Amino acid sequence: MTVPTDEADISELSEAADEEFLVDVRGLKVHFPIKRGIVFDRTVGYVYAVDGMDLRIRRGETYGLVGESGCGKSTFGRALLQLEPTTAGEVYFAGTDLAALKGEELRRQRRHMQMVFQDPLGSLDPRQTVEQLLLEGMRAHGLTKTQDAHARLTDLLRAVGLPSSALSKYPHEFSGGQRQRVGIARALSVDPQLIVADEPVSALDVSVQAQVINLLEDLQEEFGLTYLVIAHDLAVVRHISDRVGVMYLGALVEEAQADDMYASPLHPYSRALMSAVPVPDPVVEDSREQILLVGDLPSPANPPSGCRFHTRCPWRQPTRCDTERPELRTVDIEGAPDSHRVACHFAEAIARGELARHDVTAVATDPSRAADDGGEDFFGPASVAEAL
Ligand SMILES: Nc1ncnc2c1ncn2[C@@H]1O[C@H](COP(=O)(O)OP(=O)(O)O)[C@@H](O)[C@H]1O
Ligand SMILES: [Mg+2]
Repeated sequence: MTVPTDEADISELSEAADEEFLVDVRGLKVHFPIKRGIVFDRTVGYVYAVDGMDLRIRRGETYGLVGESGCGKSTFGRALLQLEPTTAGEVYFAGTDLAALKGEELRRQRRHMQMVFQDPLGSLDPRQTVEQLLLEGMRAHGLTKTQDAHARLTDLLRAVGLPSSALSKYPHEFSGGQRQRVGIARALSVDPQLIVADEPVSALDVSVQAQVINLLEDLQEEFGLTYLVIAHDLAVVRHISDRVGVMYLGALVEEAQADDMYASPLHPYSRALMSAVPVPDPVVEDSREQILLVGDLPSPANPPSGCRFHTRCPWRQPTRCDTERPELRTVDIEGAPDSHRVACHFAEAIARGELARHDVTAVATDPSRAADDGGEDFFGPASVAEAL
């Protein structure tokens, strides 16, 4: 391997990276000020919703982002699309730093990145027909001028598996699954490259979830899309993802190829999440390691020092875990691929069985948490089983 020595080499390297990675997020932070006072003019602290995210997504890849509710997944997805003001860091999309764009330039880039939401009823204007909903975005980006709009609408509906009679209907006239198809058609209507799907099937019946997941997969193939799929349900992400990232209190704690992540999670938090996912084989189910997460997710307004997971970690070691925040690094385990990265000081020792697990006692819930709850699906799960 050659190490770049001068600037020309470095810029060549980053150009090559642009080709491969559609999304390149570096050191992203989104801190929400907590305001107090009669006219909310005093900032008394911050919610560290996203606090140092590094994440890259290849062209055509599906990246699954998982973690308990409240750990910052939605805020990250929104910040990626510049729908939240970023406190620090860079978001490169196809090589362009979005944070540096404003007004018209940003609007033009936005066309290439669309969002699919958990609750299509909440995100679709109830007074607009499907035709109006679909035309709205196309018009905003000048797509109705250049081509036969009606043919495009019919194509879009076909792509998402809805009859063309759907055009004259209103959102409330559809079932949940159909409505999500409308939401997906709307995202597709502007011909995007990236789709951020935030809990795309969480509001749907289990029987319908698989259909929508399959649809997303088909559309990816047909239109060459790149996906960021956000979910608290690990089972959803497993099927569709090429790579999976596990997020805890504002940052990634582990990242790996999906198979690798589910077969051998290395971070204690990922181990706990994975151990709560039911395995169909009863023999495997009975024999495998169960790790219960104790206590609630700590408040992102007052995150623990050092490793943010140390307050709930059954392998916590004094005192390094309490004081030194671990970086996301390639694991040093024989046979583990370079793509497997983990933010735990002791991941290797835990994997080798050198560290004993100890009991974690629940820490009292921080009563201030209720006050800074701004997330739509924020709750304090008593255990991971409940959260999943
Ligand atoms: N606009 C906002 N103002 C203040 N706090 C927010 C805002 N949006 C989200 N939060 C807080 O940021 C944290 C992360 O929320 P969120 O990104 O919705 O997590 P997730 O999607 O993983 O459930 C939560 O504590 C939430 O209450
Ligand atoms: Mg969310």
